[in-house]
Amino acid sequence: MIERLVVFGGTGDLMGRYLLPGLAALGASERLPERFELVGAGRHDWDDEQFRNWAADWLEREATDIDAGARTAVVDATRYQRLDLADPASVSACLAGQGPVAVYLSLPPAVFPIAVSALHQAGLPPDSQVVVEKPFGEDLESARALNRLLAEEMDERHVFRVDHFLAMTTVRNVLGTRLTNRVLEPLWNSTHIEEIEIVWDESLALEGRAGYYDRVGALKDMVQNHLLQLLCLVAMEPPSSLGERDLRDRKVEVLRSVRPFEDADVASRTRRARYRAGRVGERDIPAYVDEDGVTPEHGTETFAEVVLELNSRRWSGTRFRLRTGKALGRDRMEVVVRFRPVPDHPFAPPLQTAAPNLLRFGLEPEGLSLELTGTGSGAKASLVPLTLSAEMEPPELPAYGRILLDVLTGNSALSIRGDEAEEAWRVVTPVIEGWARDLVPLEEYDGGSNGPV
Ligand SMILES: NC(=O)c1ccc[n+]([C@@H]2O[C@H](COP(=O)([O-])OP(=O)(O)OC[C@H]3O[C@@H](n4cnc5c(N)ncnc54)[C@H](OP(=O)(O)O)[C@@H]3O)[C@@H](O)[C@H]2O)c1
Repeated sequence: MIERLVVFGGTGDLMGRYLLPGLAALGASERLPERFELVGAGRHDWDDEQFRNWAADWLEREATDIDAGARTAVVDATRYQRLDLADPASVSACLAGQGPVAVYLSLPPAVFPIAVSALHQAGLPPDSQVVVEKPFGEDLESARALNRLLAEEMDERHVFRVDHFLAMTTVRNVLGTRLTNRVLEPLWNSTHIEEIEIVWDESLALEGRAGYYDRVGALKDMVQNHLLQLLCLVAMEPPSSLGERDLRDRKVEVLRSVRPFEDADVASRTRRARYRAGRVGERDIPAYVDEDGVTPEHGTETFAEVVLELNSRRWSGTRFRLRTGKALGRDRMEVVVRFRPVPDHPFAPPLQTAAPNLLRFGLEPEGLSLELTGTGSGAKASLVPLTLSAEMEPPELPAYGRILLDVLTGNSALSIRGDEAEEAWRVVTPVIEGWARDLVPLEEYDGGSNGPV
């Protein structure tokens, strides 16, 4: 197991909000190596003590559920190193120590290539890992270029491209449930399933993230990575193992089978929109274009929907609706499988028609429900909805705890492979280009509503 984790960009939001709490959770469950060392590398002129205080503050805010001893142990295992990516001596100083090291690039995406080259110049010890955050590239070309650079510098086995959705227990449960249940297995195809909706609707608005979000938008921030990964888990052929080769081969097959968008498809099967001012819960929110740091002329969307079709024997004829938005009236994060109606039943009109069966996988909060139809207990045989639901145990580790454990143990099953990252960009590229040519209008919706009408 790797004993040293060096975080480039160690003074950033991701480090405070997710990586430190993930490490504390690993410590609390005794899964950190005994001689674990954490190096926070940043541009500030800080010493170890200043960095430890900063880390302790974040842990106190973001890891309240974790034992105080485990939090302190992470802080005590920390040192700070000033980082200047243009100065090889500073990069080498960050890496100094015995044995392999895991280097986490928690940097703005534009800096990834500079950091990879700097690591190559400094020379990584054998069996070291490099972790690259999302978004992996800004488009297909830049993702290819970054892959080429990584391939020149290191073995694919030692590159970990993060998509933290894959480490969420609720996301893994989608795959677990569909692959292990006899009642679902024969139905998991287009003969029985009309549509699968993959939804990540947030009530959160921009929350001060214009610097990142206004150049990216909903399609690149959510659909290109997280929602396409969910599509892979929902639609993949059963892998023969959960090992890194089998799982990722099956996922790439799904992405390769997505029917490419022609211009007419972009116009008819995609939507984009941004929020107007409104009220979300108890809060008044400004219109997206009036948020601090937003340039309205960028035309950035805060809502995106794409309907995909797969060229495959199993799925031809099923719609896959991927949808995400910000500043919506309620949080709705789920995968909804809508089954086709039965061809006929004796409770025909004038009695009600049967509602479609829905299988819902709650992603946040967790949960699982199956909506069926039955006949009620009234005098007349009328059709009534019946819902079966199950709750899940809270996760043992937060998603970033699981990612860091995999990085330190060299398990890359949940890492996005290079070809997979490129295929995901291939899927969305015609949509990005079509939107840039205004094939689809940029609609508007009220903050706090259900999205564009
Ligand atoms: N935060 C999240 O919720 C989140 C979620 C998923 C993925 N991510 C990804 O995680 C990465 C980091 O995000 P973040 O939110 O932590 O960003 P951030 O708060 O802006 O932090 C970025 C870090 O990188 C450092 N940095 C910037 N330019 C640098 C350079 N040229 N050389 C050396 N260090 C440099 C910054 O140092 P200074 O403080 O000196 O500027 C800071 O420590 C990004 O790729 C982001 O897309 C973030």
